[in-house]
Amino acid sequence: MNDEEKKAVTTAEVRILKDGPIMIKGNFTFRDSSGKITHGEQELYICRCGGSSSKPWCDGTHVKIGVAN
Ligand code: FES
Repeated sequence: MNDEEKKAVTTAEVRILKDGPIMIKGNFTFRDSSGKITHGEQELYICRCGGSSSKPWCDGTHVKIGVAN
């Protein structure tokens, strides 16, 4: 983690949403599998049902196929 990334990390809330995705909300740094980094105030929803067509992001498919919560 470089200095710029360290400055961006402050606080974040991670919550498992009932029958849905993982929500990450706050001021944090996020690096995806391609190495792309976003930082600052943001709110992300990570798929945990495996059905999203835009993984790792939730696209709402969990409503149709369900999540074993
Ligand atoms: S949790 Fe929403 S699409 Fe998978």
